[in-house]
Amino acid sequence: MLSKSQARTFFLGGTGVFSAAFLALTFDTHSRIPARTHTEAITPAVARGKRIWENNNCMGCHTLFGEGAYYAPELTKSVERRGKEFLRIFLKDPEAMFPGQRKMVNYHFSAEQIDDTIAFLDWCGKVDLNGFPAKPPLQKTIVPVAAQQMVVTSTREVPAIFTEKTCLACHSLLGKGAPNMVMPNLKGEMVAVPSLDEVYKRKSRPDLVKWISNPQAIKPGTPMPTLVPAVVSTAQVEEIADFLMSLNPSAPPTAAAPAANAPGSAPPPPAPAPAAAPKAN
Ligand code: HEC
Ligand code: HEC
Repeated sequence: MLSKSQARTFFLGGTGVFSAAFLALTFDTHSRIPARTHTEAITPAVARGKRIWENNNCMGCHTLFGEGAYYAPELTKSVERRGKEFLRIFLKDPEAMFPGQRKMVNYHFSAEQIDDTIAFLDWCGKVDLNGFPAKPPLQKTIVPVAAQQMVVTSTREVPAIFTEKTCLACHSLLGKGAPNMVMPNLKGEMVAVPSLDEVYKRKSRPDLVKWISNPQAIKPGTPMPTLVPAVVSTAQVEEIADFLMSLNPSAPPTAAAPAANAPGSAPPPPAPAPAAAPKAN
């Protein structure tokens, strides 16, 4: 049994030790905040973006750093997940890519407001949050991973159209873009986004054009957005299909696929001889 004075000493001592620990940890946390949040990266655009975020009550639907409402996607890593091009098109008109399917408000932002919002989200995504949010559960993917992996079949440059038209926000192509994107379809199943490196093996040119023009018509509920006509014109679909088909090593060289050492104006080189022609002897 403790005597009265022992109990008092025990109480005061314990309180003192734990208060000191609490103050030390509080001080430690606060001293780490500037480094973890990259205070130096808070540009005026980031600050304006935060004001847009607050004034429009984005948190009424979204979470950021895990805080907010659970109606719409967590946005902490949205720039990393989607890329700036995708978000720019999405914020300009959230329904453009998913006509009639999506419930995000169209705020009619100006181009500058969109850039500010993206700058803010980009800054959020770079804050050190000890690994929050967790990566999507890859084991639930329903598309074979072989198609998702980058094969990098060619050293050719990826035409700018693939970046500008958001394809590389989700797909990988010749080592560029998003290598391991996984996204939910309308049933909530996780779908691995295939690499486009060898899509010529899986789709004929007409099927490729049909798919890019209206994926929902071919596979209702697919997470691949309808980009035509809001983002990609029908002429651009042809351009995209030309390039993807030209990655086939056995395709005849076309305008989209100039041979590496015969640029632009040079006449098309003769078809290469079969690699391992049997020797007559
Ligand atoms: C009424 C609810 C609601 C409000 C308010 C709202 N959003 Fe959204 N937002 C959504 C929904 C639903 C989606 C998912 C839409 C989709 O996938 O097509 C979404 C998607 C997004 C995405 C794309 C996320 C991704 O990973 O694809 C961004 C970025 C975004 N919202 C930003 C904002 C910003 C910035 C604001 C405030 C200016 C805001 N949202 C306000 C409902 C809302
Ligand atoms: C928002 C993410 C997203 C964007 C942006 C996107 N795609 Fe896709 N794409 C997907 C997903 C997911 C699939 C797989 C769909 C499925 O199996 O349901 C897919 C499938 C495809 C396929 C079929 C691949 C195969 O292996 O059969 C092609 C081709 C394709 N996309 C081309 C494009 C092109 C070209 C663009 C740009 C104009 C583009 N995608 C933009 C998500 C996207």
